[in-house]
Amino acid sequence: MLKIRQLLQTLQEIEFAYRRGQTFKVNFATTWQCNSRCQHCNIWRIYIDRPEQVKQEVKLGEVEAIFKNCSRLTWVSLTGGEPFLRSDLVDIARIINECCKIKILSIPTNGLTPELIERKVTEIAKLKIPFTFISVSLDGTKEIHSRVRGVDLGYDRAIDTLTRLDAIGRDFENLSCGFEYTISPFNAGSLKLLIDDLNQRGLVSLVNKATVTITHIADFYRNESLASELDDTFKLKAIEDITEASKHMGRTSLNGLLGRVYLNTASKYLRTGQTPVSCTAARGSLFIDPYANVAPCTMMSKPLFNLRDTGYQLKPELLKEARQDLKTNGCPQCWTPCEAYQSLITNTSFFFKHLLIG
Ligand SMILES: C[S@@+](CC[C@H](N)C(=O)[O-])C[C@H]1O[C@@H](n2cnc3c(N)ncnc32)[C@H](O)[C@@H]1O
Ligand code: SF4
Ligand code: SF4
Repeated sequence: MLKIRQLLQTLQEIEFAYRRGQTFKVNFATTWQCNSRCQHCNIWRIYIDRPEQVKQEVKLGEVEAIFKNCSRLTWVSLTGGEPFLRSDLVDIARIINECCKIKILSIPTNGLTPELIERKVTEIAKLKIPFTFISVSLDGTKEIHSRVRGVDLGYDRAIDTLTRLDAIGRDFENLSCGFEYTISPFNAGSLKLLIDDLNQRGLVSLVNKATVTITHIADFYRNESLASELDDTFKLKAIEDITEASKHMGRTSLNGLLGRVYLNTASKYLRTGQTPVSCTAARGSLFIDPYANVAPCTMMSKPLFNLRDTGYQLKPELLKEARQDLKTNGCPQCWTPCEAYQSLITNTSFFFKHLLIG
């Protein structure tokens, strides 16, 4: 009961902040390091080509300077790259929480280092951020997942991570975990097989908190070469997965409810290519990369400015210009949970209408 009241308060806080024009969510890519070899995302190639650039990533003191200056955030997502490859990830979460007293912390992971992730998530859960959500990427059954992600033992490790996190989730009321399935040309149409597999393994509780994502083409993912593969055949198979996922989404967790509405609107996005709801980017939400560049969103990651040049201050006038530019020139249009979920929370009438339709 307390949890539901806290959740409603948090959602209300976000909506009020947005109406007042405040930024309430930051997607912070903590690192470009990555130990996977995915086919739908080429972030892993960044440091293969330029390993010395890892030294340019923000240090803890800079993280503190950045987040002290955005103390009114409610929600931070620590993404990457593989965020758990940052040896100071727990300190990053701690510092952000000290600066902003956030209510929601979300961290996606490829789940390739089960013991390390279990240890760090336990430390992060102790920070008592009310809604701490860890999603482990799982793109199919054993053979499919390992092929999509280019790592032989990738599936076994992701399942090991999910099992460990599911277990520690029982010790911490504030911690929840699920899996994230990204529909790409390499796995489209195979979600049902994965759900059957998870049910057989007794991991059924994870299914109704799943996050389903459609592969997008973006500078962030460095995957321009995939554009021609996102064709009508892909879209039909993706709609099969979306329909399958909709049957399983829960009604009692934040992720389940957001997932439900996201999926109820995803097929239309695939057919029209239009973002279904007005978007919070460059106002309610921002993207910060590992070198302190600020951009409107993960899809448009071309920097607006670098926080190292502004004394780690956000520049409201540059954000205003970016919003104007989005209005005038439009944007690539997207529908990925890391951008869509905050737009759903701030559009309550749209959210409830589409929650009821499903
Ligand atoms: C960029 S990754 C970062 C976290 C971690 N490395 C992982 O793989 O979970 C976050 C999520 O984005 C998804 N993703 C990767 N490429 C994508 C693309 N081209 N379009 C949409 N989502 C994508 C991943 O599958 C993953 O679930
Ligand atoms: S999806 Fe995650 S694991 Fe795969 S290459 Fe991108 S950042 Fe790395
Ligand atoms: S691409 Fe467009 S719709 Fe998607 S998050 Fe960015 S601004 Fe919003």
